[in-house]
Amino acid sequence: MNDNILVTRSSMPSYEEYCEEIKELWDSHWLTNMGNKHQLLQQELEEFLGIEHVVLYTNGHLALENSIAALNLPKGGEVITTPFTFASTTHAIVRNGLVPVFCDIREDVFTIDVDKIEELITPNTVAIVPVHVYGNVCDVEKIDYLSKKYGIKVIYDAAHSFGVKYKGISTACFGDAAMFSFHATKVFNTIEGGCVCFKNDSWVKLLNDMKNFGIIGPETVEYVGGNAKMNEFQAAMGICNLRHLGEEIRKRKTVVEKYRSRLEGVDGIRLSAIQEDVESNYAYFPVVFDGYKYTRNEIFEKLAKAGIGARKYFYPLTNSFDCYRNYPTAGAERTPIAQHIALRVLTLPLYADLSLKDVDRICDVILT
Ligand SMILES: Cc1ncc(COP(=O)(O)O)c(C=O)c1O
Repeated sequence: MNDNILVTRSSMPSYEEYCEEIKELWDSHWLTNMGNKHQLLQQELEEFLGIEHVVLYTNGHLALENSIAALNLPKGGEVITTPFTFASTTHAIVRNGLVPVFCDIREDVFTIDVDKIEELITPNTVAIVPVHVYGNVCDVEKIDYLSKKYGIKVIYDAAHSFGVKYKGISTACFGDAAMFSFHATKVFNTIEGGCVCFKNDSWVKLLNDMKNFGIIGPETVEYVGGNAKMNEFQAAMGICNLRHLGEEIRKRKTVVEKYRSRLEGVDGIRLSAIQEDVESNYAYFPVVFDGYKYTRNEIFEKLAKAGIGARKYFYPLTNSFDCYRNYPTAGAERTPIAQHIALRVLTLPLYADLSLKDVDRICDVILT
């Protein structure tokens, strides 16, 4: 028997439930281009998230790229963001012809340090793209204040935070827009997928056109759009998985509580702070090895030898990627806290069906 433990494992409905959901596609032969499943998932998400509008995408990255494009910002404008994120966040900014300006992060929850944003604002600043990293919520109130004070737009990379609420409000509802990823590894998945959430009515048509080549009528193409449509099989997976989201999050919570009971308070091991007013989705379990008897890399190797996957998530920082080396704003030394964490953090295996026995096995390797 293979007793390896992977760092993640996609949640799926039963085979029968998914087959039942996709059955009608064999009658309709309507496989993509905003069919019934697409429409139903969109409505269900608007209701679930309590947001006026959801536009579905084939993946989270294109959702983020398009939502930034929808702001129609001047090329070369500066966008304040953090380097402690997945490649997608920074790439989405740069692929829109904008310049990422990297702000450092908070040491306790790894989100953008809002007290350091203001010093980075210049006359060229056009937007902020903060990240609800690991599902931890950014200081949305301070970011909203800064956005109003300086007249700059805010698009949240909420890829990790589906199902998370701050003061009872979904992270879908903050900023000019928020993007979720529904990638297979996320708490809620549509195999690949994502969406943009927003309140501005005029964006519904704009984003729907942008994700469909900019075609606005049978003979009219108004925008230089791309193809980023979610297909019917993806949407059907989402409809099924949404039914089980509550159970998914409950099970993850049990796993996280077990990890905490073993690792909290150990000298040299630091866990993410628990945020007041936040309902978590338990998306990731990051551990910072800071002055522990083993380094992060040693723990990574020890776990690998025991057949246990872990991720250096996020390492390297995006501001030290090769592709940004020549950017005037690049350089990990400008974001020392992010660099400190990136060199010391590991995310441990976490998925709904991870057994508590396996959590013990993982912790035993770390602690001995
Ligand atoms: C923080 C962050 N932003 C953006 C993305 C991009 O989402 P997707 O993989 O759905 O394209 C991811 C994906 O994992 C992510 O973790």
